[in-house]
Amino acid sequence: MGGSLYKANLLEGQVACITGGTSGINLGIAKAFANHGARVIVMGRSAERGAAAIAEIEAETGRKADYEQLDVRDYDSLEAAFARISAAHGAITTVVAGAAGNFSASAVNLSANAFKTVVEIDLIGTFNTFRAAYDHLHPNKASLLAITTPNATQSMPFQSHASAAKAGVNMLVKSLALEWGGRGIRVNAISPGPIAGTEGASARTMPEGMDDKIIKTTPLHRFGAVAEVANAAIFLASDLSSYTTGHILDVEGGLLLGDASRDALTVTPRQKS
Ligand code: COA
Ligand code: NAP
Repeated sequence: MGGSLYKANLLEGQVACITGGTSGINLGIAKAFANHGARVIVMGRSAERGAAAIAEIEAETGRKADYEQLDVRDYDSLEAAFARISAAHGAITTVVAGAAGNFSASAVNLSANAFKTVVEIDLIGTFNTFRAAYDHLHPNKASLLAITTPNATQSMPFQSHASAAKAGVNMLVKSLALEWGGRGIRVNAISPGPIAGTEGASARTMPEGMDDKIIKTTPLHRFGAVAEVANAAIFLASDLSSYTTGHILDVEGGLLLGDASRDALTVTPRQKS
């Protein structure tokens, strides 16, 4: 397994379902899971993107992968997919709720339907995914993983819809971790900062000038890489994190710590009088 610092067969025997796994960060997670031995099933709306993702995963990892065409707003289709998957591959051990919709828009330019659409995909879609999987999860060992954002706790211009939805995701993760821990189900989230080359860090989702501002002010002064998020996902999906639940793992270069720009760090402390 090229370049990974984890044991090659760390996820051997796992059955991992990844909504939104046909592109970007989630596809990177799917490939990383497959590379470490998991049977991966990616889920999304576009059959064309699904077929391309499977071909990519199989070519790069040498592992068989599957695709389920569904919309996370449709509970019944998720339920049917999880039933099919557990019948074919055995109990599901890992679920990543990564599907999301976003765009940059000021609140006054959002219709009621635009706001509702993002909440339905991001928040309700995450609930639907975890709840529909519940009956098909491994009886005493399963890891559920949501993908949230730093904007869930720190507001950002033109993100009221996605920030509100993902703040709900954070609380959902903690609530399910509390309720489902007794069944051996761990529930965690990863909160990526802007990840280079992905839709969520593109001109469609970030206001003009925001990328330069983030690089200037973030403590690590750069965007993240898909592989850096995938490494966190491997940790949370594996037994390496067996006592960790209800946790939101920041993979954001310190973005939430505050302003680390040169200007901000060159203020002079007051002298003792
Ligand atoms: N600004 C303001 N409103 C917007 C918008 C924008 N840039 N893009 C879409 N909308 C509005 C639409 O006008 C519509 O509202 P209306 O019915 O009042 O006109 C509403 O959002 C729903 O749009 P629609 O295209 O019907 O939704 P969809 O379910 O087909 O697609 C989206 C969902 C809009 C989130 C679409 O961008 C998408 O599919 N995204 C997936 C990929 C993605 O966003 N990745 C980033 C992850 S961080
Ligand atoms: P992306 O490539 O656009 O991935 C989103 C995926 O979700 C696509 O595969 C899409 O496939 C699927 N999807 C969208 N709506 C869906 C629906 N209703 N039902 C089922 N699938 C749906 O985005 P990304 O930038 O990699 O983001 C991945 C995750 O990371 C998201 O949860 C996002 O909020 C989070 N995140 C990203 C960043 C970043 O910098 N990129 C930062 C913080 C958080 P289809 O179109 O085929 O359905």
